[in-house]
Amino acid sequence: MKLDHVVKAQQFDRQMLDLVLDEAKAMERIASGGASELLRGKIMVTLFYEPSTRTRLSFESAMLRLGGQVLSSENARDFSSAAKGETLEDTIRVVEHYGHVIVMRHFQSGAAARAAHISRVPIINAGDGPGQHPTQALLDLYTIRKEVGRLDHLNVAFVGDLANGRTVRSLVYLLAKYRGTRFTFVAPDVVRIGDDIKEYLTRQEVHFEEVFELDPALAKADVVYQTRVQKERFADKPEEYARAKGKFIIDRESLAKMKGDAVLMHPLPRVDEITPEVDADPRAAYFRQAQNGLFVRMAVLKLVLLGS
Ligand code: CP
Repeated sequence: MKLDHVVKAQQFDRQMLDLVLDEAKAMERIASGGASELLRGKIMVTLFYEPSTRTRLSFESAMLRLGGQVLSSENARDFSSAAKGETLEDTIRVVEHYGHVIVMRHFQSGAAARAAHISRVPIINAGDGPGQHPTQALLDLYTIRKEVGRLDHLNVAFVGDLANGRTVRSLVYLLAKYRGTRFTFVAPDVVRIGDDIKEYLTRQEVHFEEVFELDPALAKADVVYQTRVQKERFADKPEEYARAKGKFIIDRESLAKMKGDAVLMHPLPRVDEITPEVDADPRAAYFRQAQNGLFVRMAVLKLVLLGS
């Protein structure tokens, strides 16, 4: 089995998800054992039109650890020919000749799908505006399986900026494929979960509720997925940002309300929505989650470039 473009979470069925998660587990062993030559002779191009720490560097580390090579444009908005007015489509028509796979982060929802539509090499969506971030969702799924020990019958609370959170959108689509998932969405009024997600869950007959208080959601969650209120999406509405920011903070007192075997996740970066005193709690999994990104992206690159 081979992956082609990785554009959105809905493209993954259970069989492919099992394959990615199992490959990631194998990659964990490769990463701890030193170098691999699996992707020798392959070149990955990264085109990032928005800032990133984890996604770009973990993809680059993944490629290098598998013996491949990397061409990187870390600020493509300012330092690629996009700054001169080149269209995304023209950029892709050129860059596809320079590498075997393109990992792209863009500020517009749907940009990865546009790129995939014309590209002759696989496009991996590394986040498209408030759209999706499918490889983050895959690493989140891997983290949940590793930390909780199962993917069925989970009560998952998503907290924070659920309107702009592309990681939330992608992860909801993946978790909805598992048996007995129950979602609780906890968001400030101005950044509630989108109607498209609610309509999708209703069609799939997956249980969800929207609440406006954090503590009851914490008490029953197996997984608490906190997110940052994304200031960069509020450029022309600062008063809405002020209403959303700081409304739901997870601190030491919150930990006391969570189940003893729950797991606390965050795609990172965080600002103030999880206080640093929480980091030492064994349930705080967000730095392990970021580490898992390396293994999952090694798996994704292998499945895109070589197949299983
Ligand atoms: N989680 C995530 O996408 O982080 P970066 O923005 O640092 O890539």
